[in-house]
Amino acid sequence: MSNRAPTQVPRLAPLITLLSAGLVVAFSVAFFAVLGNVPNPQRLMTPVIVTASPQFTDSIEARVAVADPSKGAAIFEKYACNACHRAEDGVGPVLTGMGKRAATRRPNYSAAAYIYESIIEPNAFIVPDYANIMVSNYKAKIPEVELFNLIAWLLQQ
Ligand code: HEC
Repeated sequence: MSNRAPTQVPRLAPLITLLSAGLVVAFSVAFFAVLGNVPNPQRLMTPVIVTASPQFTDSIEARVAVADPSKGAAIFEKYACNACHRAEDGVGPVLTGMGKRAATRRPNYSAAAYIYESIIEPNAFIVPDYANIMVSNYKAKIPEVELFNLIAWLLQQ
């Protein structure tokens, strides 16, 4: 009886250490989960809405409706899209018929929403049989007005 107390204390020590370690891990996981959900400031400041879901269709449609497709061809060349997308060949899908095909690529995507996403977030969907090589920084490079003029023009191709 008298020698019980001293042996119990050291037995509890590893248990407490284990519990504390568990708590630290649990809090770290929760902390980083919360951190991961905080949108990064650059995204908040960017006027273009970026999401992988077709929820953004209405706003894309509205912007394309007031865009100027006659300026699109020059923008397509300015950003060297034509290096990969040519009328009938290239390492990317051909330009001819792009507007019509765009409506068929992803379920629930309008043609405009699909083209928008293809340009600003090319990794969101990789066209079957093509390599994932499209330049992915257009969101930062192409001003919004140019982007929507470009989309309006691509829809007519
Ligand atoms: C380095 C080559 C390359 C450049 C430059 C490039 N693309 Fe692409 N693009 C691709 C490839 C390859 C695909 C198909 C694979 C994929 O979905 O990423 C593609 C897919 C697309 C699609 C989807 C087409 C479809 O038929 O579904 C669109 C729209 C598009 N690109 C537009 C553009 C525009 C606009 C630019 C210029 C701002 C551009 N691309 C620049 C290679 C390129």
